[in-house]
Amino acid sequence: MGANIIDGKALAETVKQEAAQQVTALKEQGITPCLAVVLVGEDPASQVYVRGKINDCAQCGIESRSIRLPETTTQAELLAQVKLLAEDPAVHGILVQLPLPAGIDEKAVIDAIPPEKDVDGFSPVNVGRMQIGEPCYLPCTPAGCIRMIESTGVSIAGKQAVVVGRSNIVGKPAAMLLLAKDATVTVCHSKTRNLKELCAAADILVAAVGRAGFVTGDMVKPGAVVIDVGINRGADGKLHGDVDFAAAAERAAWITPVPGGVGPMTRAMLMLNTVEAARRAAVR
Ligand code: GUN
Repeated sequence: MGANIIDGKALAETVKQEAAQQVTALKEQGITPCLAVVLVGEDPASQVYVRGKINDCAQCGIESRSIRLPETTTQAELLAQVKLLAEDPAVHGILVQLPLPAGIDEKAVIDAIPPEKDVDGFSPVNVGRMQIGEPCYLPCTPAGCIRMIESTGVSIAGKQAVVVGRSNIVGKPAAMLLLAKDATVTVCHSKTRNLKELCAAADILVAAVGRAGFVTGDMVKPGAVVIDVGINRGADGKLHGDVDFAAAAERAAWITPVPGGVGPMTRAMLMLNTVEAARRAAVR
């Protein structure tokens, strides 16, 4: 195995220390950043993610409010809860954990979060601002991917970057952020014909398809930086990325593990966004 491992857990600790220092400075001005996390239903994976976010807040000195609503919650009830948080000046960031139970329109819920409290960066206003390079909250997973690539010392400008997956919360924004860093970006998806050749030409390969082992070793260019966003629970009960790690690590120069790669970085970037939301609230 030749690749260097990009240690997401270690990098996340550094980012959280950065957030904690900023929290200390804000507290000296009488501001305590506060994140509200809303979880509807009992999805086991979501419960784990939400617990992790609450723990990260505590570690950074950020106040958190954990709001648990039953699976039977109606859209109107959820929207009413979001409205309360939107109007509460003590709450700086609002995160509604996705996916939501069937019958609740995710878009309506995301639209109910004011852009200035949208620390997930999912609202159309933040997506639009990102697109044109205006100040905004960057979506945490793609922002974490960029930070991980930059941590290698490999420059992004001028490189061929391939993103596999075109979701609104990872693939599309990852492509935009890589473009903003002057990469030449290709986005691949389920209808892409020459997937293997495109991936094999990538200096930077970001896999965000949600299928275990989708990116095989022969799709990795020797010397590439490989970022694996996938978190797939296998029949063995273990977590697997979208990349065949062992085979890809034979060829890549840098690769993220699963678990311990993108996941912890996503949560750390959320802490930075929450601190930023508190700072902006103070100057509004
Ligand atoms: N579900 C999976 N990832 C995320 C995320 O980054 N934010 C929210 N709100 N829900 C998610």
